[in-house]
Amino acid sequence: MKRLEGRVAVVTGGASGIGLATVRRFAQEGATVVVADLDESGGKAAAGEVGGLFVRVDVTAEEEVKALYATAHDAYGRVDVAFNNAGISPPDDDSILETGLDAWKRVQDVNLTSVYLCCKYVLPYMRAQGKGSIINTASFVAVMGAATSQISYTASKGGVLAMSRELGVQFAREGIRVNALCPGPVSTPLLQELFAKDAERAARRLVHIPVGRFAEASEIAAAVAFLASDDASFVTASEFLVDGGISGAYVTPV
Ligand SMILES: NC(=O)c1ccc[n+]([C@@H]2O[C@H](COP(=O)([O-])OP(=O)(O)OC[C@H]3O[C@@H](n4cnc5c(N)ncnc54)[C@H](O)[C@@H]3O)[C@@H](O)[C@H]2O)c1
Repeated sequence: MKRLEGRVAVVTGGASGIGLATVRRFAQEGATVVVADLDESGGKAAAGEVGGLFVRVDVTAEEEVKALYATAHDAYGRVDVAFNNAGISPPDDDSILETGLDAWKRVQDVNLTSVYLCCKYVLPYMRAQGKGSIINTASFVAVMGAATSQISYTASKGGVLAMSRELGVQFAREGIRVNALCPGPVSTPLLQELFAKDAERAARRLVHIPVGRFAEASEIAAAVAFLASDDASFVTASEFLVDGGISGAYVTPV
């Protein structure tokens, strides 16, 4: 499908995982893609693969985020889609009983403050165009509790969800849609390695997923492409769950 022909899309965290899969999917849909990431080699490779532009950005740095959208706009004359997706889940973010203020703040900065900055600095371009689609990556943990806690991560994703909803409402009549994407667990190399070492840990999570497996990054990217496109013209301020049924489940199939 070519639903994004002529559109310019900026993807943060585009060097890896869900971001990289979305860079590829956006390009297949006809978009010109700007890859924004801290990781220069991965980011350049991703941008090179799709004939787009790489911009090295730390999404927690206000001036760098401001410059990112200015660079995209200078290069291509518009910014139609912002996929604000960069995020971290470091091991020192754990139970509230063990997590220190430094880990708490770092995760809030990268996962939540960054989304505030990205929205703040892309919105003026979209308002001037009278059109735009913002997709902010939250998580299914924004709507469900886990006994295997990563307390700052969960709180940051709850913040992304509430902020996206509010922005979606505020800018709805200006032609700008803002949605929170809430993926379930995705089969990333990190997750695969972790669960290959610890089958019990994997089983404890898999039992809650009606579909019976983790998502592929390309399945999340397909949802992002939908939200970015005019097929989603009546979808805004949503908590867009792509979770294999986890959040709807009480008893799962055996
Ligand atoms: N993988 C999952 O199971 C899962 C589930 C739900 C939500 N998510 C969310 O999806 C998003 C992407 O996750 P992923 O699994 O693809 O992760 P990933 O680690 O594969 O990719 C994240 C990318 O963000 C970049 N990044 C990190 N900090 C940055 C910063 N300060 N500035 C710029 N770039 C930075 C990294 O370099 C990396 O390329 C995250 O927000 C994550 O919380 C992931």
